[in-house]
Amino acid sequence: MLADRLKLTVLISGRGSNLKALIDASLAPGFPAEIVRVISNIPEASGLERASAAGIPTAVVPHKDYPDRESFETVLDQEIRSAGTELIALAGFMRLLTKGFVDAWRNRLINIHPSLLPAFKGLHTHERALEAGVRYTGCTVHYVRPAMDEGPIIVQSAVPVLSRDDADTLAARVLTQEHAIYSLAVRLIAEGRVRVDGDRAIIDDENIQVPGATINPLA
Ligand code: GRF
Repeated sequence: MLADRLKLTVLISGRGSNLKALIDASLAPGFPAEIVRVISNIPEASGLERASAAGIPTAVVPHKDYPDRESFETVLDQEIRSAGTELIALAGFMRLLTKGFVDAWRNRLINIHPSLLPAFKGLHTHERALEAGVRYTGCTVHYVRPAMDEGPIIVQSAVPVLSRDDADTLAARVLTQEHAIYSLAVRLIAEGRVRVDGDRAIIDDENIQVPGATINPLA
């Protein structure tokens, strides 16, 4: 185990398959980040059980208990800070965060989105990719900015769209790639290899692409 691992808090609202991928990655020897807390705004989120099973402390901050976004986020922020969090990963967290919260965690708050941003921001990405007839879609890990699904892109993986795909088959293939790239992004950040320059994330010591590779940057 590394002595000084980056302290990561994961925010979820649902099943938590990306959370599970992050947990699995963090258990590997030498992974430079540890999950110090998992927080859900939905008490029934099954991802909470995944976290508990792995011995990770959890917290529930139900947004419905608060009159407005600011008061919800004040408590959320307290839960995050009390864990000593250095990086927050949104993993299917279905609440929009205010500019105040996002700015307070600038360049320490990342999200995973199931499309090749800046295409298909928002919900129903796979349905819209199929409708648009794109040959590739994929997933993106990016730093969070106040506007939804915007911010410097850290890692993307491209997934071919097949003629026989429906939204479910496409979502499943993209999800497999999500699980691969989220821990990669956390690792790059924890290793100090990601620098934000304006609207872009610059990766130090980027691996040279091999022809046909669809994840960029490579591990
Ligand atoms: C993922 O598709 C993620 O990209 C999106 O929400 C979904 C969460 O899935 N932001 P899970 O809860 O991680 O399984």
